Amino acid sequence: MSKNKVLMFDTTLRDGEQAPGASLNEKEKLEIAYALERLGVDIIEAGFPISSPGDFAAVQKIAKAIKHSTICGLARSIKKDIDAVYDAVKVAESGRIHVFVATSKIHLTHKLKKNKDEVLEMAVDSVKYAKSKMSDIEFSPEDASRSERDFLFRILEAVIKAGAKTVNIPDTVGYTNPVEYAELITDIRNNVPNINKAVISVHCHDDLGLGVANSLAAIKAGARQAECTINGIGERAGNAALEEIVMALRTRKDYFGVATNINTKEILRVSRLVSKLTGFPVPPNKAIVGANAFAHESGIHQHGVLSNRSTYEIMKPEDVGVSTSGLVLGKHSGRHAFRERLKTLGVDLSEEDLTRAFERFKIVADKKKEVFDDDLLAIVDDEARTYEPVWELEDLTITSGAKINPKAEVVLKSREGKVLRKSSSGDGPVDACYKAIDNMTSVSGKLLDYSIRSVTRGKDAFGEATVKVQFKDMHTVVAHAISTDIVVASAKAYINALNKVLNDHPKKSIDGSNI
Ligand code: KIV
Ligand code: ZN
Repeated sequence: MSKNKVLMFDTTLRDGEQAPGASLNEKEKLEIAYALERLGVDIIEAGFPISSPGDFAAVQKIAKAIKHSTICGLARSIKKDIDAVYDAVKVAESGRIHVFVATSKIHLTHKLKKNKDEVLEMAVDSVKYAKSKMSDIEFSPEDASRSERDFLFRILEAVIKAGAKTVNIPDTVGYTNPVEYAELITDIRNNVPNINKAVISVHCHDDLGLGVANSLAAIKAGARQAECTINGIGERAGNAALEEIVMALRTRKDYFGVATNINTKEILRVSRLVSKLTGFPVPPNKAIVGANAFAHESGIHQHGVLSNRSTYEIMKPEDVGVSTSGLVLGKHSGRHAFRERLKTLGVDLSEEDLTRAFERFKIVADKKKEVFDDDLLAIVDDEARTYEPVWELEDLTITSGAKINPKAEVVLKSREGKVLRKSSSGDGPVDACYKAIDNMTSVSGKLLDYSIRSVTRGKDAFGEATVKVQFKDMHTVVAHAISTDIVVASAKAYINALNKVLNDHPKKSIDGSNI
């Protein structure tokens, strides 16, 4: 590996998925894995296989499907964890076992209830065991930044001797700061005699908002792998954001002197996908991928940018995949223009999918004068559902107003072709709608989160509804739908959530429905 290359290790599907409220199913994890492969990440940490049969299956599926990134699974320093990772990733073109054990005094005393020698033995034994199964082994001393240095040096030397090719230095609780963390990396380089036999990796949490800064400081000090997540999602305040580390290294190559293998033009697309599937919105002012990241509002800035972009822009929006074409389609645009525009946006549809999306585009173009790139992507997303519809919205009539009790009449069609009609009242039109749907399907859902956003500008813009629903006795799901009518979008999003969960629990659609 070149000295000037930083490997990007994405843990969106493992540490990111540990974020409260994130719940991705197998298909969604695979979709994200494909997007990460397109993005060019070197290593995808696909999950923690011992944690559940679902996680095991997802890691295995990803290991089978992905060809250009190494697929890694996490294991405690326990044989059965290592066996589970091995069984899940052995089919991968390139697989890695990531073993960890805590090394700080706090963790040794209160969590592991072991002394240093016992922990060192566990670490070495587990790395040796993992190495007997696979050649690419990573070791993490959890809570490294709060561990006693001498013990940390000792354990790192021992695991490298036992076969670890990568040693990761986690700032597990987001406690360190850039100066201190850079010193730690330097100390490791100076005090672990065999350190040049391994890649030093960084893994920073964002509890003090320093995750990215700490990662960059460590890279400057010699670390050559960065562990991070898309949009910085993860436990508590999250992990360091991949897109921020990558763009900082690229924009300030003069300072850092290193490069990554990331295809930065894919950044926005994968950010949107992760946000959509996890249901975690990206704040508008978020660096690199926020909706306002490249917007210039003040007159002075606009004037400067118009004269020369570099006055107020340090990165080109196109470099992270922001479309700047300003091209709009309308009702007179043909199938060819539609297909070509999608291609430019990185979407290549099969003939069948293109036909469906084009039909939908025509309906939309009839209602909206101008169809923007974001509208097109929303249409494609909305049509590209990966689950079979058990229920479909046939019709919806709302009566609502400031002084009347909102009512909804909903007509649903089942997969078997049966049409049901129900009226309900509620606190508002959306509540009335959801009550009617619950009543007809007999699958009651608790709405954990709900949001509506405008996909593009203008009063005739698409509204995208996002719901997070916990259906009785089933897991939590996130779903979306778009429409120029926000109540229709809300109803469709709820039905999509129901369809998604019923696809994962096929028995419920028979037992639970009153068809
Ligand atoms: O934050 C952490 O310490 C981790 C390890 C398991 C690498 O996620
Ligand atoms: Zn972590």
